[in-house]
Amino acid sequence: MLPDVVDLLRCPHCQARLAPDTGRGGLRCAAGRHTFDIARQGYAGLLAGDAKTGTADTPAMVAARDAFLGAGHYHPIADAVAAHAADTTAPGAVVDVGAGTGHSLARALDAAPSRVGLALDISKYALRRAAKAHPRAGAAACDAWRPLPVRDGAAALVLNVFAPRNPAELRRVLDPRGTLVVVTPAPRHLAELRDALGLLNVDTDKKARLDAALDPYFTPLDAAHVAFPMALGHTDAATVVAMGPSAWHTDPDAVRATLAALPAPVHVRAEVTVSRYAPR
Ligand SMILES: C[S@@+](CC[C@H](N)C(=O)[O-])C[C@H]1O[C@@H](n2cnc3c(N)ncnc32)[C@H](O)[C@@H]1O
Ligand SMILES: [Zn+2]
Repeated sequence: MLPDVVDLLRCPHCQARLAPDTGRGGLRCAAGRHTFDIARQGYAGLLAGDAKTGTADTPAMVAARDAFLGAGHYHPIADAVAAHAADTTAPGAVVDVGAGTGHSLARALDAAPSRVGLALDISKYALRRAAKAHPRAGAAACDAWRPLPVRDGAAALVLNVFAPRNPAELRRVLDPRGTLVVVTPAPRHLAELRDALGLLNVDTDKKARLDAALDPYFTPLDAAHVAFPMALGHTDAATVVAMGPSAWHTDPDAVRATLAALPAPVHVRAEVTVSRYAPR
């Protein structure tokens, strides 16, 4: 793990800074009492022992996400996020909370060549990929609902893309001049697929609920509606279902069977909101 990335971290138990543990090869806190492993695949294990990892993306979801994002279908979303990384002038890193495979983070770092990045996630399958997502990024396992293992004010930019968010912690890790960028699905996101498969709908008040939840810590700056068509073959259409929240409630074979009956390609619109916030 890069020294500049280790420098962003703090001990999840006592909040002291972390440093390489030269004896063991992992990390150790400045208080000296707590040690952490760095997995063979390169991510730091900073998850408390009693953490509940039930919401972690499964190997199948992570593989689907990697395939779908790798094919470039969501590039317009990653580009909109990366444009904010290029604009940010505050000091600090790019920290992606619920980073998944590190796809958005990698594109943000390409747009911000002087910064390092940190991918946080609770899924070890996601972290294995995130740890290798970009030469200037590191990755750590943690629970986004608990205090993050990141020093106060270490981030110039915090990203949160279709992922859990704890407003107080997002604020704490952000430099006062920094920016929070949140991507949420808009009401019609993938509606054609959801209608065809009878899947859960997106909450139509998501943006209002997001602003309200963040309000004690953040003021909204702007929000862009990013919408674009995708022509998906049956395999890619099944993959986008397998990587999203519907994967928890659907049987992949049943999804594939229903999709096989639709004309190919399946025409689907992605519609998301990319919202920017300033810390209060
Ligand atoms: C829908 S995926 C989005 C991933 C990534 N931001 C992207 O856009 O590709 C949600 C991610 O949140 C992670 N996650 C779920 N619960 C979490 C938690 N409590 N703490 C940290 N990450 C969590 C999942 O493992 C998954 O990688
Ligand atoms: Zn400690």
